[in-house]
Amino acid sequence: MDKKLNVLLLGSGGREHALAWKISQSPLLEKLFIAPGNPGTGYHGQNVAINPLNFDEVKGFCVQSAIDMVIVGPEEPLVQGIHDSFLSDSNVKHIPVIGPQKLGAMLEGSKDFAKEFMFRHGIPTAQYKTFTAEKFNQAKDFLKTLNPPYVLKADGLAAGKGVVIVPSYDEACANLQEFFAGKFGAASQKVVIEEFLSGIELSVFVLTDGHSYIILPEAKDYKRIGDGDTGPNTGGMGAVSPVPFANQDFMKKVEERIVKPTINGLRNDAIPYKGFIFIGLMNVNGDPYVIEYNVRMGDPETEVVMPRIKSDLLAALLACSQNRLSEASIEVDSQTATTVIVVSGGYPNSYEKGKEIATPASIPYNAILFHAGTSISNGKLVTAGGRVFACSALGNGIDQALEKSYTLAKAIKFDKLYYRNDIGNDLKKLQNQ
Ligand code: AMP
Ligand code: GLY
Repeated sequence: MDKKLNVLLLGSGGREHALAWKISQSPLLEKLFIAPGNPGTGYHGQNVAINPLNFDEVKGFCVQSAIDMVIVGPEEPLVQGIHDSFLSDSNVKHIPVIGPQKLGAMLEGSKDFAKEFMFRHGIPTAQYKTFTAEKFNQAKDFLKTLNPPYVLKADGLAAGKGVVIVPSYDEACANLQEFFAGKFGAASQKVVIEEFLSGIELSVFVLTDGHSYIILPEAKDYKRIGDGDTGPNTGGMGAVSPVPFANQDFMKKVEERIVKPTINGLRNDAIPYKGFIFIGLMNVNGDPYVIEYNVRMGDPETEVVMPRIKSDLLAALLACSQNRLSEASIEVDSQTATTVIVVSGGYPNSYEKGKEIATPASIPYNAILFHAGTSISNGKLVTAGGRVFACSALGNGIDQALEKSYTLAKAIKFDKLYYRNDIGNDLKKLQNQ
């Protein structure tokens, strides 16, 4: 066998714990480092106190620790050009980075770029127009041509808060004005206004080396804070994989109408891309439409996707980095995976940190407690973020998996904790139909 790999994973959330858990099982792994990681990733590798946005420190660490591969968890380092920074530095340019260069990362970093890409390559998505502040009147005229509700999106990254959907024309105009006035700084200088798509959402994940691709298990996430999909949007309160309506027929449409044209589009536009593509889709009466691209895995979707991958993910990532993804494949577990996110009370608005945590005394068979916003303070595990844990489990069907996820969630104790009680309920109904 070839030399084993030293791997550096960037990020610190539940997604990174799930990736670290999976990668640590690979026979190809020599040593896993996570920067900065969290107390959970520390079970599977060595956490290093480096900010992923400090490219010089990341590169210095790679040289010092003979890193053979860098896997980028979150979008920000990619959008800021970490991959380009490696390629232009002779000390580290030989080290493969999983995650696109700056140009490819614009699929997430600029909604206008992503919409233009989709239209150029005939990929189904909502009708839209993009406006800057000088075109306020034209933007208002365009809104008049659409039916409510109205969808407005800040062009740039806005920490998941840059999309508003409002029922009336007047609210749409008021939001438009706020966006142009700098609600999200430079990110909302351009605003994408688009047609509202009505249907059920799901997330499809693709690993590509720019030529070949592997479709990973799909997932549904639950974005709203409250039961019954009420209240403000969050980073995600739970996830389920597989998604019952994503049957073979539907996934064939996704592959033919969306995945293939996306990979071919990247090639035709000379956009180099090695890494994950997260396609946010709307199922509109059986037809898939792209809501958004992300250039990384989803969180909390990764916490259900990883448990369903039976084969060696690192082997697929190595093949990806060596342009031989066509030789790789993954084996998927037919069981259902669910995750329930335990959050700090108050999230996604303001919440307190530093609450002492009691973790479950035992973990059900085939369940995994992924850490997200936790840290160690004075030797004790405490809360350190909005989303604190992802309670993931595999089971025969949604009910069995959910039972284990909720057993875990109920056994976690800290002051003011909260989780949704209805994760997967909508899918249970579909599954039982
Ligand atoms: P995005 O950040 O683009 O994923 O948008 C956030 C959320 O807004 C999505 O997950 C959807 O729930 C919703 N959304 C975005 N665009 C549309 C659209 N054109 N029609 C309906 N819902 C949308
Ligand atoms: N779960 C949505 C995201 O990762 O953006």
